[in-house]
Amino acid sequence: MLVSRFVPVVPAVALSTALVLALTACGGGVQGTPGGAGLRDPYFPKAGNGGYDVTHYALDLAYDPARRRLTGTAALTARATQDLSAFDLDLKGLDVTGVEVDGKQAHWNRAGQELTVRPHGELREGGTFRVTVRYGGTPETLTDPDGSREGWLPTADGALALGEPVGSAAWFPGNHHPSDKAPYDITVTVPRGLTAVSNGELVRERAGKDRTTFVWHTGEPMASYLATVAIGRYDVSRTTARDGLPVYTAVDPTQTRASRAVLARLPEVLAWAEDTFGPYPFTSTGAIVERDTDAGYALETQNRPVFPGAPDVPLLVHELAHQWYGDSVTPRTWRDIWLNEGFATYAEWLWAEEHGGDSAQRTFERLYAHGEDLYPDLWAFPPAHPDSAERLSGDPVYQRGAMVLHKLRQRLGDDAFRTLLRGWAGAHRHGTADTADFTAYVERQAPRTDFSDIWREWLYGDGKPGRP
Ligand code: TRP
Ligand code: ZN
Repeated sequence: MLVSRFVPVVPAVALSTALVLALTACGGGVQGTPGGAGLRDPYFPKAGNGGYDVTHYALDLAYDPARRRLTGTAALTARATQDLSAFDLDLKGLDVTGVEVDGKQAHWNRAGQELTVRPHGELREGGTFRVTVRYGGTPETLTDPDGSREGWLPTADGALALGEPVGSAAWFPGNHHPSDKAPYDITVTVPRGLTAVSNGELVRERAGKDRTTFVWHTGEPMASYLATVAIGRYDVSRTTARDGLPVYTAVDPTQTRASRAVLARLPEVLAWAEDTFGPYPFTSTGAIVERDTDAGYALETQNRPVFPGAPDVPLLVHELAHQWYGDSVTPRTWRDIWLNEGFATYAEWLWAEEHGGDSAQRTFERLYAHGEDLYPDLWAFPPAHPDSAERLSGDPVYQRGAMVLHKLRQRLGDDAFRTLLRGWAGAHRHGTADTADFTAYVERQAPRTDFSDIWREWLYGDGKPGRP
């Protein structure tokens, strides 16, 4: 690492002792500044932090459902993107008991969701550092701006972590913004008899006398809102899909019977999705099925979506489509959420069209003619600009977002549209993208086609677009 970019040229003997001390106090004389306390997301300005990129998360957790107590060590590897005198992590609730940076105790303090860490020495731009946070307590269940519950949810027989949009800060400290993705290793120790499920692949299961440890590995980059832990009694099934892709499903025993037929179709849905969206972006798949009283909604947690009770096929299609659109190609800000939900909704339309249901054209026409009956908010705001954090999961994001894609299909024709779906997933595979990236991508694919009316009226425009 660059330890001395600005070596004083004056011989040290020529300097007063006081000046030498001042120059060496911060390890070479460069004065770093604190990283930002937020990334100025339009909806969650304090989410995420400036000054570094996380390159790996190692979470070592233990949970006791009877006492609702979580004990954790989070070790983050990060690269400084500026000279840093201090930096923030996001953490909501819980008690921090110690913080180390590169193995040395660091000063820290807390204010709201900001955990500010002041390392022993300064961190140089471009350098890699490792921060370890020890913490514990009863994690909070948060109520989202839209009223739904996320964060850490105690369940009938354990707990479930749901993180969209900002719930992951309730169970581990991190850079909690979708623009900073990283691989994860998540280890969870639970009382014997319970199972702990997470993202990625189960690499080890170690049974102790009273407790069992589950070690999960996620090799591909993951946004923190897609990280999950599900603890409880589950019927676990481990099979494979095409080419030996591991399928791991964990189903609450009360849901096993109702889930069997639909989960058996997971390989078929996955094969259809690969055909439609391109190669599956991850190294394993599966599902977590909870009781509907434990999880209020489905979430596309990476590799292994969570369902509130047995899903139907359209919901399975929706959450699997998110593995391409959302999990692999991740919105750069929360404003870009339609890139997740519009695509996942359109995936449902396509599935229906190709499996004996309504054509996407008919779904589009019905929505245009009287969509308000089913979705009262349908024309309340444009998909690319949700009017508030409460409405990030609103009808315009899902339904009108899908209508934007259908307008593109009408203009491009079926073949070019299918190429676009695959191409977009490929262009930003394992990355992040925003709405402007999308419109630019579309225009590059069809340089002689004019899309400006679609952007203006369907994507960015207020109110119901006029019939063309
Ligand atoms: N993404 C979830 C789905 O599959 C729904 C959801 C949960 C959501 N929390 C959210 C959407 C916050 C937007 C914002 O549809
Ligand atoms: Zn969705």
